[in-house]
Amino acid sequence: MNIINLQDKNLYYIGGVVRDKILGLESFDVDITYEGNAIEFAKSIPDAKIIQINESFGTVRINSDGKEIDIASTRNETYPQKGHLPVVENIGCSLKKDVLRRDFTINSLAQSTLTGEIIDYTGGLDDIKTKTLRVLHDESFIDDPTRIVRCLKFSVRFGFEPDEHTKQLQDKYLQNVNYDMSYKRLKKELIETFNLNSQKAFEKFVTEKIYKLLTQADFKLPDINFENLIKKYQPKNVWIIYAGILPDIQKLPLTKTEKNIIDDFYSLREKSYSNDFEIYKNFKGVNIESIIMFAIYEKEIVEHYLDNLSQIELAISGNDLQELGIEPSNKYQKCFDYVLKEKLNNPKTDKSAEIKLAKEYFGII
Ligand code: CTP
Repeated sequence: MNIINLQDKNLYYIGGVVRDKILGLESFDVDITYEGNAIEFAKSIPDAKIIQINESFGTVRINSDGKEIDIASTRNETYPQKGHLPVVENIGCSLKKDVLRRDFTINSLAQSTLTGEIIDYTGGLDDIKTKTLRVLHDESFIDDPTRIVRCLKFSVRFGFEPDEHTKQLQDKYLQNVNYDMSYKRLKKELIETFNLNSQKAFEKFVTEKIYKLLTQADFKLPDINFENLIKKYQPKNVWIIYAGILPDIQKLPLTKTEKNIIDDFYSLREKSYSNDFEIYKNFKGVNIESIIMFAIYEKEIVEHYLDNLSQIELAISGNDLQELGIEPSNKYQKCFDYVLKEKLNNPKTDKSAEIKLAKEYFGII
């Protein structure tokens, strides 16, 4: 069934959308390619309105029947700088050449918008049947090491496995990583992979040494199931939990929020956790992501905080102390801490009991 209302003998669905259709899955984005020059083609469509043209990539966005459609020209690419964005070599090449620049056979299928025929130059259909991830050539990971993470992502998403040769190429690359690569692209793939929240993916990431893309240091698989912790405590930013515990994550271009999460995680390691009061004070106000990451060191303490302590809040405030006739000073904080220690022992302490404790602290009878 056609997803777009446009048909032409040279117009194809390509890549992930074809794979997803065959797998019976919904696609998030629909890639369309024109065998030849897509811009010329777009200009020739009678009722289509051209919205945007990118001459150097040979791509065009049109509005056809009220629907916006991106069409790419077939193109082949080279990687003059390994690990970085490819350079377009030829716009309007054959469909076959376009397909051969891609990552895995399952992502190299095209489907005619006119006849629905699937064009399979690389054996992608068989690989979908046998649930296999297979690179198209031996330089694939050298050209673009982010494909190693993509391989992991697809293996988790679809339950596919790399064939033996692809796995060997991966292992070989990971023994000799070229660290001059686009960490922006790597980050995008890590986000998509780790956001799947799969313990299995994380275990593979560590045991297959995929983390070597980030660092030469060695990293041991922590004895902790982050997937379960994440399911239980529902943090917003899942990927950073898996990535943040790795060494040398600084190579990735992190946002301010992501940096804060990691800094908080590092700070938590410096503190002492010998009683509930210390635990509460150290964790209160800290990002949930940093707290979950800290479970690699102190899982029980983290769970105790999140399950039992984190909901506890004092009911009294400075106003209540003022009403008791106490002038504002640093004694307020000391009093709150005194009341808090009691409340952590007995969470049922209500406001009147808290006021009683405050009076006790200030010696008011
Ligand atoms: N591609 C590639 N190498 C990469 C990234 C992408 O060869 N490092 C190719 C693949 O053929 C892929 C297509 O570009 O199918 C589009 O990339 P992308 O949208 O990232 O992947 P999809 O396969 O569409 O997967 P998703 O469902 O995750 O969007």
